[in-house]
Amino acid sequence: MRVPQVFIETFGCQMNEYDTELVRTILKARGYGFTDSADTADVVLLNTCAIRENAHNKVYGHLGKLKPLKEERGLVIGVLGCMAQNLKQDLLAGDSLIDVLVGPDSYRALPDLLERAAGGRKGMVVDLSEYETYADIVPDRIEGITGWIAVMRGCDNFCTFCVVPYTRGRERSRDLIGIVREAEALAASGCKQVTLLGQNVNSYGDGSHDFADLLLAVADVRGIERVRFTSPHPKDFPDKLLEAVAGHPKICKHIHLPLQAGNDRILQLMNRTYTRTEYLALLDRIRQRCPAIVLTTDIIAGFCSETEAEFAETYDLVQGVEYHSAYIFKYSERKNTIAARKFADDVPDAIKAERVARLVELQRGISLKKNRALIGQVVEVLVEGDGKRSDQWRARTEGNIVTVFPQTPFPFSDPIKPGSLISVHITDATVTTLYAQAV
Ligand code: 5AD
Ligand code: SF4
Repeated sequence: MRVPQVFIETFGCQMNEYDTELVRTILKARGYGFTDSADTADVVLLNTCAIRENAHNKVYGHLGKLKPLKEERGLVIGVLGCMAQNLKQDLLAGDSLIDVLVGPDSYRALPDLLERAAGGRKGMVVDLSEYETYADIVPDRIEGITGWIAVMRGCDNFCTFCVVPYTRGRERSRDLIGIVREAEALAASGCKQVTLLGQNVNSYGDGSHDFADLLLAVADVRGIERVRFTSPHPKDFPDKLLEAVAGHPKICKHIHLPLQAGNDRILQLMNRTYTRTEYLALLDRIRQRCPAIVLTTDIIAGFCSETEAEFAETYDLVQGVEYHSAYIFKYSERKNTIAARKFADDVPDAIKAERVARLVELQRGISLKKNRALIGQVVEVLVEGDGKRSDQWRARTEGNIVTVFPQTPFPFSDPIKPGSLISVHITDATVTTLYAQAV
């Protein structure tokens, strides 16, 4: 019998990439095969993101493109992930192309739904769970130098702008021992760098261990050379965690610490639970304990009722802190969130865009300055693979900065390969990239 072929396209964050690996395992166990194009597929699954408006639009765009294939060959179309959870009936309504909708806690139901859909019956499972962590499912990953492990799922913080608590439900953590086993399996397959993932990763706790315990345990796995984590919340940064990051040579000296806004009234409206002063005090504590730390952040511009003077406080903070890089977003109202229910989305779009542009401009200058300051230094990088040009290697510094350097030309054999951890001499820099020579 011919094996039905599935094509999965993944949108959004690393957690979604990880979930796609889980879905592959679940489907493989039920006899499905995989293909890398919708043209050769019997089933197309879109693993979706709901964090901002443009994430939604991308998915609608893709669905439109699948329409002719569906009409021609009766393709089965499934929408997975955050958008499925958030839009439920809306997505299935009317003459929708979608046959199957499955939320992030319900992937075990997918094979049954696909079988029913092949017989012409649409269906959805969007139950959120307080327990589902998929801890028993080994992700079907493409072997490589880097891998990720979801250590906790969901979020209980209810930042007022954020849809995650509604699409991914309550916080729950896996047992430390299962995570360490997964890291050991990654190391055995040649993986050198593990990234621990969670919507609120540093509130991890399995009853006996906290996040610092987990980081140290994973960093001690033989064969793993680098450990990263994303994304932490500023509220969960005890000294113990800082000691772990500062003290363990395999934990990267890089912290992505979402700021969101630099003004106290806006921070409070966002329910971020810290003030500007408290956030800055945390950065001081981090920099004192670990002067080499590379800091990056997330910022939202144009949140409900944000005035020019309040935005100026965010601008001023970014100027003062000098993050190495920053993701800067225009506020995008999300259905069901507290902000959508309680506050007016009243900053005009043009002003939001202008604030984003000003921050991006500021940050680009800072990123360039910081990267240029590395010229002349020797730094350690992990080689990930070929660069855009195949005669170059693409690598990353401990601070996660992309670094490019020449490969040894044929006919000489290059001692460097993906997975090598080597010293390079930085010779040039742009806003996003370091250029180097192997030492
Ligand atoms: N609008 C704009 N940005 C958002 N983020 C989360 N929700 C929204 C929203 N509604 C941003 C935050 C978060 C990052 C992952 O996405 O900055 O840290
Ligand atoms: Fe969303 Fe806030 Fe939770 Fe991050 S911490 S996932 S921004 S609610």
